[in-house]
Amino acid sequence: MKKVLIAYYSRTGTTQNIAALLKQTLNCETEEIIDLKNRNGFSGNLSGGVDALLQRQTRIKQPVHHPSAYDLVILGTPVWLGNLSPALRTYIVQNKKYLPQLAFFCTFAGKGNVNAGKRFLRLSEKNTRILSIQNNETPDKIKKKIENFIQII
Ligand SMILES: Cc1cc2nc3c(=O)[nH]c(=O)nc-3n(C[C@H](O)[C@H](O)[C@H](O)COP(=O)(O)O)c2cc1C
Repeated sequence: MKKVLIAYYSRTGTTQNIAALLKQTLNCETEEIIDLKNRNGFSGNLSGGVDALLQRQTRIKQPVHHPSAYDLVILGTPVWLGNLSPALRTYIVQNKKYLPQLAFFCTFAGKGNVNAGKRFLRLSEKNTRILSIQNNETPDKIKKKIENFIQII
């Protein structure tokens, strides 16, 4: 059986919820990626959007789990201005040479998920399955999408 890690960044809990649903089925470990730059409130939102758009990195807390100890790492992020969150970008850059097989998921409000997926593929340089969940999708639909995703990763 594959050893799986889910590593995700979440500012307001939506991506974290999807990580928790994946974890329930996969029974694996999770790593929350912590952005050390303050992303709260209006200014945090703004800096997050700008940093994401300019594809900047940030400072993240030292992760607990080492990705090289896993067969598959599932990486998750909210979509920020059609891009990856700076925290996930930083995690990928910092761990690139240790990353095993990857899968990617993102949550988003309205659009930009396809572009975020492209950014992920370009940055990780790996052929990766992608799951994107829009905020208004029903729990039933999310459950089905997660089941399908797990089948193919
Ligand atoms: C700075 C910022 C930029 C965002 N940009 C987008 C976007 O381009 N497209 C979109 O659909 N949602 C966008 N959103 C909404 C989030 O992607 C969405 O609410 C996500 O599910 C939040 O995940 P989280 O609760 O894990 O942080 C943005 C949110 C923030 C804070």
